[in-house]
Amino acid sequence: MDNLVRILDLNKAWAAARVKEDPDYFNRLLHIQSPEFLWVGCSDSRVAANVITGTQPGEVFVHRNIANMVVHTDLNLLSVLEYAVNVLHVKHIIVCGHYGCGGVKAAAGHLNLGIINNWLRNIEDVFRFHQDELLAIKDEDQRIDRLVELNVEEQVLNLAKTTIVQGAWTRSEPLTLHGWVYGIDDGIIKPLNQIDSAEALDPVYRYSNL
Ligand code: CO
Repeated sequence: MDNLVRILDLNKAWAAARVKEDPDYFNRLLHIQSPEFLWVGCSDSRVAANVITGTQPGEVFVHRNIANMVVHTDLNLLSVLEYAVNVLHVKHIIVCGHYGCGGVKAAAGHLNLGIINNWLRNIEDVFRFHQDELLAIKDEDQRIDRLVELNVEEQVLNLAKTTIVQGAWTRSEPLTLHGWVYGIDDGIIKPLNQIDSAEALDPVYRYSNL
């Protein structure tokens, strides 16, 4: 309970500090939401989108789940994506993974963990696509870190496969997808891959009637 009181107190102090700095701060946010970025990140408490990018409320539209996945049947992600692209008209979508990701580690392990097995199986698929490269890495931590990177790149491709993203490209709206990985040990984000047209996709995923 003490910690709960503490975060409510911290909230009051934060709100008061904002108004002290800029009396119009909340009034301005009340009337506009026009973020340029959609962030798809891991739920891990250490990888807080606004905090690690030094951005302010109003700047980043955020979706987080275990291991920053873009799962084709995830209505939550798809709803966020559609709103971000078709209503907010974000210019960049960032999938940000992080080294030492517990979800990726769990997927690389062989334990039955219950319902989450079904979520992590999407990462096992990424492992299978790249298993020659991954199995050649003898150090287990290094292998997991490489799987973290490959998983991010694959989720960026999964975004590009959607009718939502391809629709924006067909309408010539500026929209770039980015894969990033964050280092929990040094706080640094490393860019991995970037896609700004359907050309990067295997033809099997492309729509001809958008
Ligand atoms: Co994680």
